[in-house]
Amino acid sequence: MTLKHDVLVIGAGLSGLRAAIELAEDTDVAVITKVHPLRSHSVAAQGGINAALSKDDSWEQHAFDTIKGSDYLADQDIVETLTKRAPQTVIENERWGTAFSRTEDGELAQRPFGGAMYPRTCYAADKTGHNLLHTTYEQAMRKGIKFYEEWYVTSLVREDERICGLTALEISTGEIHGFVAKAIIIATGGFGRVYGKSTNSLINTGDGCALALRIGASLKDMEFVQFHPTTLYGSNILITEGARGEGGHLLNSEDERFMERYAPEQMELAPRDIVARSIRKEIEKGRGIEDEYVHLDIRHLGEEKIKSRLPGIREICRNFAGIDPIDEPIPVQPGQHYSMGGIHCDGTGATSISGLFSVGETSCMSVHGANRLGGNSLLETLVFGPIVAQAALEYIENASFADSSCVEDIAFRDRSKLQAMVVRSEGESPNILRKEMKKTMDNLVGVYRSQEDLEEALRTIRNLRERFEKISIGPTDIRFNYSLIRTLELENMLLLAEIITMGALMRRESRGAHWRSDYPERDDSEFLKHSLFTLMESGAIKTEYIDVTLGKFEVKERKY
Ligand code: FUM
Repeated sequence: MTLKHDVLVIGAGLSGLRAAIELAEDTDVAVITKVHPLRSHSVAAQGGINAALSKDDSWEQHAFDTIKGSDYLADQDIVETLTKRAPQTVIENERWGTAFSRTEDGELAQRPFGGAMYPRTCYAADKTGHNLLHTTYEQAMRKGIKFYEEWYVTSLVREDERICGLTALEISTGEIHGFVAKAIIIATGGFGRVYGKSTNSLINTGDGCALALRIGASLKDMEFVQFHPTTLYGSNILITEGARGEGGHLLNSEDERFMERYAPEQMELAPRDIVARSIRKEIEKGRGIEDEYVHLDIRHLGEEKIKSRLPGIREICRNFAGIDPIDEPIPVQPGQHYSMGGIHCDGTGATSISGLFSVGETSCMSVHGANRLGGNSLLETLVFGPIVAQAALEYIENASFADSSCVEDIAFRDRSKLQAMVVRSEGESPNILRKEMKKTMDNLVGVYRSQEDLEEALRTIRNLRERFEKISIGPTDIRFNYSLIRTLELENMLLLAEIITMGALMRRESRGAHWRSDYPERDDSEFLKHSLFTLMESGAIKTEYIDVTLGKFEVKERKY
């Protein structure tokens, strides 16, 4: 069966939903998502969403903090759009019904976040993403948007220089269907699950990036992977920066507030890359606890504040670490959290393929450069969702549907590929490859990187990609075959792991979240550039650098 919609949005997190809401006014839009929309990873965002709302704050100050935080790699024109539109975006969601926390006077409460010179992070206790996603999903329901829930996109389809549709697996039946569309927006989130120690949902497997890459779109800045300083030791569940924003202290095994050594002015509220590296340094120097973690102490905030401002953190600590943060410090260590890199696109989400757009964490416009500030990612989804939707609307005004044969041929190819995978009874389990990939990325492509480690990682990942060709997935029933879905995700992650490692190897400097122990300085003369990766027909990955868009904020040394 071939289905048809003017615009298809892949992914039902905040950016996908927000784009679809905008499109639903004027066109036939459908959303395809591999999980129910309310299980999208946006739901897990805790700390908040930034906006310069106070009269003492300004979009310029927000922009400056973002650009400085990015280690000057963010494109300044895109940051300007983000920060100028932030207040109206937060207010829109508040009017839609998001239950933001309030001050005593009834104003929207704002807490300090890392790298921000002003408390500008609005929040709904420590469940901001949960609140925003539910509110936004309600609006999508109200508009009657068509959802294909629990469908997994297997290929994008292009005809010459333009997008013409996609193929997708209906998970419940195991059938592959073709979709014809005039425009497609990819909003599938990040690729954090390339790593083992990650705050990301298991679904964050970079499917959108891999799909786009395979039809000739480029990826950008893939080496910039954010490690959140405070993930719960053991499970790596996020312990929000909001805990430090409310006044939490980081302590080493000697009960010292060690951030004094690394960022004496901003202390625990330095940007994440700096705090994550400081924690790793303390552990390396033998001042970690059990050589694995440090403590985040919020006991001095008191029971009332913890219960009202950080109820989710308390629940997580009780359920997953067996401790109550009212009485005990929280064991934390850095873990993968966010993908700054993604699909190369302009400020309207447009890629090099006509009609193909991307938005949110899966895209790289680039608004976060080498390091994202906390509170800017929820903001990015809601600011750029409508902008990208408007660009898609403009595009389809003069676009026509391609003939359905263009997607039917690819659907036939994908059916044959999946059938062959499902029936292969001999071979390695993909689970072994997945574990090896994650261990390699955690140990060799983490907070600190070096030539030797990266070369070893690249060899291992390339070997895993060869072994992937001979795996056997196990269950053969095509209905609800989650072994098959996990395997297709693994194929995508292995491709991205190779590119992340290549990017980290070729960037011989330290900038933002990418820290080379063998090149500890930032090198603007050679590397104030975005990296770009394109998959060639031969299967080789072409790499190049392109310029960063600078502007009124002068490139300077980054001190906190
Ligand atoms: O720490 C946090 O709550 C994360 C926020 C973010 O990544 O923006």
